[in-house]
Amino acid sequence: MIIREFKRSDVKRVLEIETASFRDPYPANILVDIYNLGAGFLVAQENNRVVGYIIFWIKFEEEGHIISIAVDKNYRRMEVGSRLVEKSLNIFKKYNVKSIKLEVRMGNKGARKFYSKMGFKEEKVVENYYEDNEDAIIMSQN
Ligand SMILES: CC(C)(COP(=O)(O)OP(=O)(O)OC[C@H]1O[C@@H](n2cnc3c(N)ncnc32)[C@H](O)[C@@H]1OP(=O)(O)O)[C@@H](O)C(=O)NCCC(=O)NCCS
Repeated sequence: MIIREFKRSDVKRVLEIETASFRDPYPANILVDIYNLGAGFLVAQENNRVVGYIIFWIKFEEEGHIISIAVDKNYRRMEVGSRLVEKSLNIFKKYNVKSIKLEVRMGNKGARKFYSKMGFKEEKVVENYYEDNEDAIIMSQN
């Protein structure tokens, strides 16, 4: 498996994974807009097929933010997500990012465990953060 930078031709596969993974997926144009605005966007590729992706952002040159990560259901629990996060953390380090934050749905127990395993700590709850009023947990690492 390789981790490489996103290309426009990956949009279709990223969208398939995004749609299968989230109740409120980002539409294709937003994904491309985020990329064009300069977000970090990496994909995991196995046998010429994109099987996961991560999108992140660096705010004010010192705060990193993981915007989205998802792995094809058939490739979960095979360390694809870990590899994507590790690579992003390396990029954050290169840019001297001091802290990294992300939001996760309270009910997304799998992702919360995943992020804890990747060294993130649950920092606080933001009530009604999502459109359907679910609370978010802010997780961070320094
Ligand atoms: C969260 C997600 C990206 C994890 O990707 P993944 O490739 O399956 O993760 P990894 O295989 O690298 O998991 C590493 C470790 O994290 C933990 N973990 C990952 N998924 C887990 C789950 N569903 N339940 C409990 N622990 C989990 C485990 O400790 C795992 O190690 P193990 O398999 O040896 O037990 C993936 O489940 C996914 O795409 N979920 C849907 C989208 C989503 O919720 N994204 C996060 C939104 S904030």
